[in-house]
Amino acid sequence: MNDALNSVFRPKSVAIVGASRFPGKIGYEILRNLKEYGYKGKIYPVNPAADKILGIKCYHNVLEVPGSIDLAIISIPAKFVPPVIDQLAEKGTKAAVVISSGFSEVGNRELEEDLIRRARRGGIRIIGPNVFGVLYSPTRLNATFGPRDVRPGKIAFITQSGALGIALMGWTVTEKIGLSAVVSVGNKADVDDADLLSWFREDENTKVVLIYMEGVVDGRRFLKEARLTTKVKPIIVLKAGRSKKGMAAASSHTGSMAGADVVYSASFKQAGVLRAENLEQAFDWAIAFSAERFPKGNKVVIITNGGGVGVMATDSCEAAGLEVFDPPEDLKREFKKYMPEFGSAKNPIDLTGMATHEEFRGAMRSAIKHKAVDCIIALYCETAVSDPIKIAEVIKEVFDLSNKPITATMIGGERVNEAMAFLKENGVPVYPDTERAVSAMAALVRWMERRSL
Ligand code: COA
Repeated sequence: MNDALNSVFRPKSVAIVGASRFPGKIGYEILRNLKEYGYKGKIYPVNPAADKILGIKCYHNVLEVPGSIDLAIISIPAKFVPPVIDQLAEKGTKAAVVISSGFSEVGNRELEEDLIRRARRGGIRIIGPNVFGVLYSPTRLNATFGPRDVRPGKIAFITQSGALGIALMGWTVTEKIGLSAVVSVGNKADVDDADLLSWFREDENTKVVLIYMEGVVDGRRFLKEARLTTKVKPIIVLKAGRSKKGMAAASSHTGSMAGADVVYSASFKQAGVLRAENLEQAFDWAIAFSAERFPKGNKVVIITNGGGVGVMATDSCEAAGLEVFDPPEDLKREFKKYMPEFGSAKNPIDLTGMATHEEFRGAMRSAIKHKAVDCIIALYCETAVSDPIKIAEVIKEVFDLSNKPITATMIGGERVNEAMAFLKENGVPVYPDTERAVSAMAALVRWMERRSL
């Protein structure tokens, strides 16, 4: 694994250059996040005017720090950053995250070049500049000025947009989505998506990589790393700047080359990268991948207590390339045990509005056991004869028993929200609408197909 990136994600010591004495300032909030998220390594705040911040001893400059510095987070005005890089090089630091804005994104290319020249000379890899920081939940490293209580999980999220990245960190907390890492890449003056892919590919804590990108600097290198990565774990890309005006906005935002959108689409496909249409879809898919159950094929069984949602899901499956196949007779016989006369054992399996958690349990267990079934989509509509919480418990129970992928949709009122929260909490991919449950399942199938090419 890349040594410099090991220093980023698993540092034994972190210096915050520009740690501030004042709550609300970026340098203060990063220090607070680092301390309060539970980072266990050494923390060295660096500030010329302070002796202690948040109860931690401060150093007046980098060279005063007594021990070595694995990772430096730099949050001082841009023009003061390059000399700090030289000092860090003297300390033997291997990686720095440059929070400061005011480089190529505002046309100040010379300053950025100077920063990178000094970093290369000193053997330091740079993340940024113009970033909100880095988080890696396995080492409890939250060196960002984003939300603090990010849930640990299996999704590594790389973002070229700062504000969006911070907002999404907060949103993942509310949605109970777990993250292994968040990396704000900003101007990508040095470390880029390709470097990060090569690290996350080998990171056992990351099971799926989600990238929000506006453009890549070295397309060839990105594709090479992407191809190697998608052989072992999925990459989901949300690439903004599809339209001409969007492209122009992207290049003025982070100064990156946007390039023709069709070229991106074709290249992603070739490399086995899944391209999401929007944020919701990107995270929907990532949640399904986090469950780590992969289909052998595209034969799906839809199990529901609502005929209408069954039909809607069937339409979505057909559009997404999932086969709602006619179950073999032995499986139909099994399904019939869990429905009244007027139910349907033809796919979609309609347990009818009379179904309780018992019928869901029976039908779902039969489906996971049968070799003809590759994946299961469970759809529940709240009724007075069934308890959403019990339904969720059954879905979780079958999910725990299954090595086949299961996605679910639950539709209803307050109790359904509670039931869905329970499933999310337990890592079961559940969505508030059928199309999303289908789309997530189709993403799993597509990845399996592409990686075997
Ligand atoms: N070494 C160590 N500390 C230094 C220093 C140096 N060379 N130079 C200054 N400092 C200290 C300051 O004394 C100050 O401490 P204090 O608040 O206790 O007085 C602290 O570092 C910050 O410096 P200051 O000059 O007050 O800058 P600032 O906090 O107003 O702004 C940035 C610094 C980096 C936040 C700002 O320049 C910037 O780039 N903001 C945009 C960041 C951003 O949005 N990034 C992209 C997100 S996606």
